[in-house]
Amino acid sequence: MVAKFIALIILIILKQCNCENKNLPCEFVFEKKFGYTCKVTKEFDSTNKFINITGIIGDHCAIDKTFNFSNKDVIRVMFFDRQILYIPANINQQFPSLKTLQIKKCGLLELTRENNFHSLRRMYLGFNKIKNIPKMYFWHFCRLEILSLSVNQISNIPQMAFRDLINLKRLSLNGNRLMTIDPLLFVRCTKLQYVDFDNNQLQSIDGDWFAKQSKLYKVSLSNNGIQYIDTQFFSSWQSMNVPQTKINRYVIFKNNSCIDFSFNNESNFEQLLQIISDNCSIPLPTTPAITTTSKANSRTKKPKYKPKQVLWFDFCEWNIQKEFQYLYKSY
Ligand SMILES: *[C@@H]1O[C@H](CO)[C@@H](O)[C@H](O)[C@H]1NC(C)=O
Ligand SMILES: *[C@@H]1O[C@H](CO)[C@@H](O)[C@H](O)[C@H]1NC(C)=O
Ligand SMILES: *[C@@H]1O[C@H](CO)[C@@H](O)[C@H](O)[C@H]1NC(C)=O
Ligand SMILES: *[C@@H]1O[C@H](CO)[C@@H](O)[C@H](O)[C@H]1NC(C)=O
Ligand SMILES: *[C@@H]1O[C@H](CO)[C@@H](O)[C@H](O)[C@H]1NC(C)=O
Repeated sequence: MVAKFIALIILIILKQCNCENKNLPCEFVFEKKFGYTCKVTKEFDSTNKFINITGIIGDHCAIDKTFNFSNKDVIRVMFFDRQILYIPANINQQFPSLKTLQIKKCGLLELTRENNFHSLRRMYLGFNKIKNIPKMYFWHFCRLEILSLSVNQISNIPQMAFRDLINLKRLSLNGNRLMTIDPLLFVRCTKLQYVDFDNNQLQSIDGDWFAKQSKLYKVSLSNNGIQYIDTQFFSSWQSMNVPQTKINRYVIFKNNSCIDFSFNNESNFEQLLQIISDNCSIPLPTTPAITTTSKANSRTKKPKYKPKQVLWFDFCEWNIQKEFQYLYKSY
């Protein structure tokens, strides 16, 4: 018992030392289009999983002689071409108004801690080495509108990973190693407008990924190895106010195994269905996207996707409410 206790204490001490505290060197710039920004241009490298930022170094830009910006005015932080293997989790405490975080070409390996990123609007994590999206990493990112994970090494996204991205408008997964997309992945992302899956390894498209996305206008699926497309994928792609022969979205299928075509919202929908029925209609022998039990498979030809069957707890409403209460109390 005592030994266990001591071991625990030692573990805690070790854990506390397994950290790195650093000052963040900022070059502060005000850009009309993007707002007040900290560009991390000087040396700031870390390979530590528990990197914390203790302070900010850098001169704030003066707008005029009577007023200087402060850390509270920073709405964007950009890291470019540094070596940061893990995201410093407490950036938001230094910059409480942070809305945009960009960490590009920094060798990011893992999404490990997300502490206070819940009010971020835009997150650009392109050109890194992320392999996985942990199931719960993006939970509570209720305000996120733009997410770029382009040019990473992501091979799989858990079904629940985007559960709370209820405000997501643009998503780029361009240049990853995705082989399948869970048909329920976007169930809660009802505000999606544009999704980019170019340059992945998708072979098979199963189910209607975008049944609830009335604002979606563009889906790009070029340079994949698509061999099979389930026509269910298009079941919600015609809307009332569009003629029956047209689709209400752009869909780009350039350079795939069974299809090399780009359709715009004025293209002939029947032509798209014709190509699919001629060249993309044979399901792959191993379709990893749908793994129901073999018994269920033999009974029903096509599994139906019913989002209601999944239990989604509404964290976002609670979270946003809490945020407003907090604001209300503090003013
Ligand atoms: C790093 O910052 C987070 C968030 O403020 C805090 O919870 C954690 O204890 C800090 N860790 C270290 C090692 O300073
Ligand atoms: C603004 O910042 C500059 C440079 O840091 C400083 O010299 C100046 O006193 C500041 N002005 C005000 C009004 O705080
Ligand atoms: C077509 O896609 C394959 C991968 O499926 C890729 O290797 C190739 O470079 C692409 N061709 C063009 C012209 O983009
Ligand atoms: C296609 O998109 C254009 C521009 O977004 C729009 O003006 C046009 O009405 C759309 N056509 C259909 C059939 O939805
Ligand atoms: C199906 O593929 C063949 C061979 O690539 C092609 O000639 C044909 O036009 C395609 N069918 C449609 C409807 O595009």
